[in-house]
Amino acid sequence: GVELARTALARGATVTLVAANLQVAPPAGATVVEVVSAEDMRRAMLEAVTDVDAVVMAAAVADFRPAEPGEHKIKRAAVGAEVALPLVQNPDILAELVAARAGSSAPVLVGFAAETGSPGSDVLALARAKLARKGCDLLVVNDVSEGRVFGEPDNEVVILGRGQAQFAVPRADKATIADAVWDAVVPLLR
Ligand code: CTP
Repeated sequence: GVELARTALARGATVTLVAANLQVAPPAGATVVEVVSAEDMRRAMLEAVTDVDAVVMAAAVADFRPAEPGEHKIKRAAVGAEVALPLVQNPDILAELVAARAGSSAPVLVGFAAETGSPGSDVLALARAKLARKGCDLLVVNDVSEGRVFGEPDNEVVILGRGQAQFAVPRADKATIADAVWDAVVPLLR
């Protein structure tokens, strides 16, 4: 996310970075909105996307949250040896952005997909289905099996577009990967 912001700034874009759990410094020149929960991120995104040309959702948003966040520490003696925490689904921010676009072609919407593959479905097949399900314009596919990608300086991705469009970006630092994402976005800008 941070490299996407940095490389967009370098290309002359005006950038808002909505971020949670930042582990590296955001680039100077971006408007940074720091959030904690998925609900905060949803609110910040819906506010930030009015009048933008492109949105890239690189955040690994938690799919679920505790149904009843506690005010106080859960004491071990009070719960016993096992505890089950009911979880409820978080809003799907990207899906909401697609819905809010309501059939218009702007802004360009880019999703990320973290996949590990599963028996019978390889990473790209899962990602192709995810692109169709989400309805965004591009999907940047990361194979995160065996602990890859998160917190690492390098990455390799496949960028999926509508139809059968597919572009593999070989292993490189994240700035190079981010530039490849913007290269894929540019032809879609109107
Ligand atoms: N995303 C989102 N809001 C969520 C979950 C995901 O906006 N609550 C966005 C991510 O930022 C990413 C895309 O949706 O751009 C795909 O996220 P991913 O976690 O790979 O997919 P899921 O929709 O959670 O699907 P699944 O759990 O089935 O892999």
